Amino acid sequence: MLIVLLGPPGAGKGTQAERLVKQFHLSYIATGDILRAAIKSGTALGQEARGYMERGQLVPDEIVVGIVRERLSDPDCAGGAILDGFPRTVAQANSLDRVLGDMGKKLDRVIYIEVEEEELVTRLTGRRVCRDCAANYHIKFNPPKVRNVCDQCGGELYQREDDSLSTVQERLQVYREQTAPLIDYYRGQGIIVVIDGNREIDEIYAEISAALETGSA
Ligand code: AP5
Ligand code: MG
Ligand code: ZN
Repeated sequence: MLIVLLGPPGAGKGTQAERLVKQFHLSYIATGDILRAAIKSGTALGQEARGYMERGQLVPDEIVVGIVRERLSDPDCAGGAILDGFPRTVAQANSLDRVLGDMGKKLDRVIYIEVEEEELVTRLTGRRVCRDCAANYHIKFNPPKVRNVCDQCGGELYQREDDSLSTVQERLQVYREQTAPLIDYYRGQGIIVVIDGNREIDEIYAEISAALETGSA
């Protein structure tokens, strides 16, 4: 099963993916996490991506398409994967269709998590992320059991640099202009499932997992 999680910054893509990969035994491909790991380890990729990410802009299509193409050919992805944060432009979606076509595969479902903008700002400015395993928390809505410590791995929690109010606003603008057109793109392919993301994490999860189990779009 190949799934794309689509939605604005703060929609809960990472939060839902953490649970979905466990229940459905899927590999996880989150381009944002891959890029942040590259920055942390100081690779050439990280150096190239850093400026874009700090400004809340998209990293060039060629770079992210290359990352995803390589990752999809890893053996662990043969049994299926969840793509989180990719594709993010129509050009990336076209490239993904081509890459999958070459592999004799196709997307099964695009889960679009829809959330109101005001709520997104509250979620993003209160988010904390694990330095070691990238698990997502929120100081109010999804706090860790021990303050600033990851429940999953004991790692330290930090605030992402692009979660400041001004960068969040830029990211939302970029989403509206460059990523939102993908909703119609995948509607056209008949594989999109729209999920109301303005609810509790558990309720949203139940609806997504039911949609994947029944295979209804
Ligand atoms: P990326 O890391 O993908 O960030 P994003 O798309 O902006 O999405 P987020 O991770 O901010 O949100 P999320 O939907 O995962 O929400 P989460 O579950 O954490 O990308 C970062 C940057 O990398 C981009 O700006 C770009 O520069 C670059 N990049 C990445 N992919 C790229 C690509 N394909 N092309 C080009 N550039 C790319 O939840 C948010 C918060 O809300 C958390 O605190 C969580 O605990 C809380 N929360 C979650 N669900 C709920 C709920 N139902 N109720 C209350 N709180 C909730
Ligand atoms: Mg995320
Ligand atoms: Zn952790």
